[in-house]
Amino acid sequence: MRKPIMAGNWKMFKTEAEAVDFAKKIKPLVADVHDRIIIICPPYPVLSKMCDELCNSNIALGAENLFWEDEGAFTGEVSGPMLKAVGCTYVIIGHSERRQYFGETDETVNKRIKAALKHNLYPIVCVGEKLEERENGSTFNVVETQIKGAFKDISVEQWDNIVIAYEPVWAIGTGKTATPEQAQEVHAFIRKLLPEEVAEGTRILYGGSVKPANVKELMAQPDIDGGLVGGASLKVDSFVELVKY
Ligand code: PGA
Repeated sequence: MRKPIMAGNWKMFKTEAEAVDFAKKIKPLVADVHDRIIIICPPYPVLSKMCDELCNSNIALGAENLFWEDEGAFTGEVSGPMLKAVGCTYVIIGHSERRQYFGETDETVNKRIKAALKHNLYPIVCVGEKLEERENGSTFNVVETQIKGAFKDISVEQWDNIVIAYEPVWAIGTGKTATPEQAQEVHAFIRKLLPEEVAEGTRILYGGSVKPANVKELMAQPDIDGGLVGGASLKVDSFVELVKY
């Protein structure tokens, strides 16, 4: 059985005071949830304070990115050891906004995954097609290329707690969710692309306008193992509803 994951991707939202307020409010509301994994991925500047609030709770902390070197002259970057030191367990890698605005490629995604694994951070690796790619019928090609590129030279022995998030770009922040059938089709396809030894145990999350109104039908799909949630993870009420879907 794959324990479901509900992960909040806060993107570039919340100051320290806002983040701490959120953490204090949500902790007691989900304290009784043990049959699923809850993750919050806030911006870097609030990670340390969020760990003070959450690291002894059933809510895990994740970062939104990491650089592949451990240290060095890389202005503006943050490394695996730094994320470990502030209490991160997970790290999002290759989000479509990183690919679209910051030049992330399958090759850099692969380097970041290797860096995360080296430092025992569990990667949440994002893939997904753009609207024109869905419309011209290349969804499966695009996703296959992204998966093969991301996991190049990563062996089954290293495949510890890798999480994949299928996020159709046209569904992110748009209010348009993929139908459960559309999502399931791609999730099943992704699972077939994974090494046989790890395919059944790997969690594949869906992301793209997940909200309380659609979470149940998405989670009812056999290959959807959780959600990577942007907008609806920013409010305590809606994130609690998602966690307790
Ligand atoms: P959204 O974002 O839930 O706001 O669509 C999801 C994501 O980008 O991870």
